[in-house]
Amino acid sequence: MKTHTNGTMKRMALWSLAGLALVGALGAAPVRIELPLEAPVLKPGPGRDIALSHCLTCHSAEYFTTQPLLPRAYWQGAVEKMQSKFGATVPAEQVAPLVDYLFGSYGKKP
Ligand code: HEC
Repeated sequence: MKTHTNGTMKRMALWSLAGLALVGALGAAPVRIELPLEAPVLKPGPGRDIALSHCLTCHSAEYFTTQPLLPRAYWQGAVEKMQSKFGATVPAEQVAPLVDYLFGSYGKKP
């Protein structure tokens, strides 16, 4: 037997499903995305503030926290490279304390 009712019922069912989906979407809690803070990643020590303010503007701290233990000259070179090639703005008088910090924290065995 062919009726119109059948089609109407299907349509109604579809609409109520759409309604449920809408309620679900509206009722969902707002999505909160929290980015991990970089600051706690860096080891404490003198010079840390310099690194925080000048070395994390372009890349994450992992660029230096994951380096193998490297000599002071490497860190000196890295800071100079960041300045000359990429434009890191470390004031001249802060370069030495920064290199001390980087080498002391990431260039030597803890
Ligand atoms: C203006 C952007 C910028 C700033 C500021 C910056 N870097 Fe970088 N750094 C880069 C880029 C781009 C690379 C990737 C370079 C590459 O692949 O050769 C990099 C790579 C590195 C590396 C990986 C080794 C290497 O030579 O590629 C180290 C270590 C590093 N940065 C340390 C630092 C330190 C320490 C500071 C703070 C003085 C700093 N960066 C600030 C842009 C920056």
